[in-house]
Amino acid sequence: MCGIVAYVGKKDAYPILMSGLHRLEYRGYDSAGVCVYNNNDLHLYKTLGKVSDLERFVEGKDMSGHIGIAHTRWATHGLPNEINAHPHYSEFSDIALIHNGIIENYSPLKEELIKQGRHFTSETDTEVLVQLIDFIRMDGDLTLEEAVRQALSQVVGAYAIAVISKDDPYTVIGARKGSPLVIGVGEDEYILASDATPLVEYTKEVIYLEESHIAVMTVKPDAKPKLTITNLKNVRKTPRVQTLETSLEVLEKGGYPHFMLKEIYEQPKVIRDSFRGRINIERNTVALSGIIDHQDKFLKARRIIITACGTSWHAGLVGKYLIEELARIPVEVEYASEYRYRHPIVNKDDVVMAISQSGETADTLAAVNLARDNGAFVYGICNVVGASIPRETHSGTYIHAGPEIGVASTKAFTAQVCVLTLIALSLAKAKGTVDASRFSTIVNELYTLPDKIEKTLKLNDKIADFAKIFTYSRNFLYLGRGYNYPLALEGALKLKEISYIHAEGYPAAEMKHGPIALVDSEMPIVVIATNQGNYEKIVSNIQEVKARKGRIISIITEGDTTVKALSDYYIEIPATEAMLVPVLACVPLQLLAYHIAVQRGCNVDQPRNLAKSVTVE
Ligand code: F6R
Repeated sequence: MCGIVAYVGKKDAYPILMSGLHRLEYRGYDSAGVCVYNNNDLHLYKTLGKVSDLERFVEGKDMSGHIGIAHTRWATHGLPNEINAHPHYSEFSDIALIHNGIIENYSPLKEELIKQGRHFTSETDTEVLVQLIDFIRMDGDLTLEEAVRQALSQVVGAYAIAVISKDDPYTVIGARKGSPLVIGVGEDEYILASDATPLVEYTKEVIYLEESHIAVMTVKPDAKPKLTITNLKNVRKTPRVQTLETSLEVLEKGGYPHFMLKEIYEQPKVIRDSFRGRINIERNTVALSGIIDHQDKFLKARRIIITACGTSWHAGLVGKYLIEELARIPVEVEYASEYRYRHPIVNKDDVVMAISQSGETADTLAAVNLARDNGAFVYGICNVVGASIPRETHSGTYIHAGPEIGVASTKAFTAQVCVLTLIALSLAKAKGTVDASRFSTIVNELYTLPDKIEKTLKLNDKIADFAKIFTYSRNFLYLGRGYNYPLALEGALKLKEISYIHAEGYPAAEMKHGPIALVDSEMPIVVIATNQGNYEKIVSNIQEVKARKGRIISIITEGDTTVKALSDYYIEIPATEAMLVPVLACVPLQLLAYHIAVQRGCNVDQPRNLAKSVTVE
């Protein structure tokens, strides 16, 4: 939630800040702001709306200068409006600060500052932080760096911040705890941002700032750029410079109208990438280094607990079915937000698997820390390299889906499920719970999935036509059984989050226990009814719905005649193993949600009230 970017160097800061904000806009987009230094003063502008609104707002203003900070917001404290937007000034507008995270003890701090004569203009926790820094600085006649250090020692909560001051127009100070921050090290410049995407155009050298570290970046006209990193106790730290692998092209839409559509179409490539070096089809082997290195932990585990949020949780549910069927290890799937607060029993022989595209989801990160602190072995399945979760876990596997920019997760889901399939197969092989021929069938079938997805993507036009029929539907039900039940949940989530149509996913057999009362001739019901697994059972469930005049949109296996005859509309996908259907059948579900949302004129890539990276609980 919230994207921050800061620049200090020899170039003009403003265009770099704005292009950075556009890249970070997926993190929040209810208001935006920028502050640059020129003519011996700070100049701060902010507005309700998107980054493009901010750009229009500052048109004609003097935005020159070689240092600045900028922010795109997802509101936590205080309504999304111009006053609550970042940056925030200190009392006398000497210091400007941007923040991603939550200062939990902002209320007592604010009361104390008010007693000390400070005035507040916004409702935000962030303004409290900048006022606190300034108060400490003035009270103790301290440097800005020391004041930041002392203020951060007093705050409880999560933060990634960037601070500039009109007393030092050559220095940006950044710090983080719980929220991500990465420094791009250019030739004569530093760029600080919530993730690496704003840096890609300028440098490949990056430093992921560690927990509770403070970075001071100075670029003076006639001196070499200087970067020092310390912790809250002022102990000097040696930065680890890493090479960024993302290219600019993967951050662009590449001719697609939306990132979401581009990302749906990228899925065959993403899956091939996630198999590279892991499946050897000639030798019929599956190898994941994270699993090989810690195989004992998994094989001796009393149970595996998968923890995640949203779409990643749905992938986790597919993972449970896979691991239990293939490797016969009991698996529990927990919403991270519940797990972290419900005093769970964590045993030393538990393996906790955290699934997160961003690797930054606050609840999942907290669940990871809880499990690790209680002695469990913690394994991460993440996409964003170098994010917090992969750094806090004992081991893990990257899904290698590349940057996912559309707020609705698509390619990350398929890549997560593929990685979970590889994990289940590796463990099954090691435990001897799957015989050689079954193993080989599944591996071969898995390997053909990218081709089958390519074929499924050819249904795009047909699905776009269906979308026109359902554009104005007010409710949807999604049904599935077995492996297709998590998929029903995922299909419903995709539709509701981008089209704002109410949609619910159910295990098909649960309909009789209540939800069937909702069915009438107005209700579209998407049924994932591929001809494996519980086929006869789902056929009966469809008949029950049909008898109540529900409108059936089915996802069926090519050549199916029974469900086709019962359906008002059908989408045929290639045949595959029941356990692999989620990877294939999620594609038409994603496309259906996408086209309905486009028909309704919704902002597909940036749905209302949402943000891609949920770094607050
Ligand atoms: C839905 C979606 C969210 C995320 C959830 C977890 O399309 O994207 O439900 O799946 O916020 O995010 P990560 O996977 O980054 O932990």
